[in-house]
Amino acid sequence: MASAPRWVEAINKALSHPDNKGKIIYQVATVDASTAPHARSQVHRAFMNPEGRPDLPLLVTSTDVRTPKVAQLRVNQRVELAWWMEGSQDQFRISGFAHIHPSPAAPGDASQPTPIPAEAAALKALEATTFDWEAKRLEIFNKMSPSMRASWCVPRAPGSKLDSYEEQKKWPREVPLEPQNGEDEKNLEMAKSNFALMLIEPISVDWVELGIQPNRRTIFTREGEKWTEQLAIP
Ligand SMILES: Cc1cc2nc3c(=O)[nH]c(=O)nc-3n(C[C@H](O)[C@H](O)[C@H](O)COP(=O)(O)O)c2cc1C
Repeated sequence: MASAPRWVEAINKALSHPDNKGKIIYQVATVDASTAPHARSQVHRAFMNPEGRPDLPLLVTSTDVRTPKVAQLRVNQRVELAWWMEGSQDQFRISGFAHIHPSPAAPGDASQPTPIPAEAAALKALEATTFDWEAKRLEIFNKMSPSMRASWCVPRAPGSKLDSYEEQKKWPREVPLEPQNGEDEKNLEMAKSNFALMLIEPISVDWVELGIQPNRRTIFTREGEKWTEQLAIP
């Protein structure tokens, strides 16, 4: 059976370094319709792969379907993320495709998943194996804390104008998975409908090791469905 590319092991090893505890935030860049770049921090939730295809790993993160990044990904699915792990002094720069799987209950066109480009072999493989996107979305949603879940309950799209901090006082602070009353139930439905699964399919990974002297750099590239590895000048 095909095996996972070595960069997955390198990331997992870096994440298990005691001084990298909590280093699960990366900066993800997208481009908008005018090709202007936009970067933001996101939480790495997990790795996954199509069944029987560890050679086609994907990164799992999540977002609010109403955020601008989703509109950007409808136009252009290419992304790059930078992940700095200070404890071990490793930088991983991952380039590839992102895919948004929203709730089927999101209003109108927002319920449509973003396009999957033909070259996105891992995402295409998931599609071909009738992967249960909705089950994965709910699995990730259910793992979130009640306060985190409240962030998908804000009344308008993140980034929309806010007239005063007073308005925020009316918003739910926690959205429990087991509603205690009608209000909790309404909030849970809203959070669930705004919550979107975001998968990132790497096609190239640039690993810089600053914790070693002399520093090292390795570039992993997926050609078709095969990963190649090239040493590079750091
Ligand atoms: C530490 C940290 C972690 C974050 N994690 C996420 C995340 O996992 N998903 C997400 O959509 N936004 C996350 N955000 C908020 C984004 O950085 C960003 O502000 C928001 O998603 C709007 O992005 P956009 O306008 O580019 O779509 C996080 C912010 C911080 C500071």
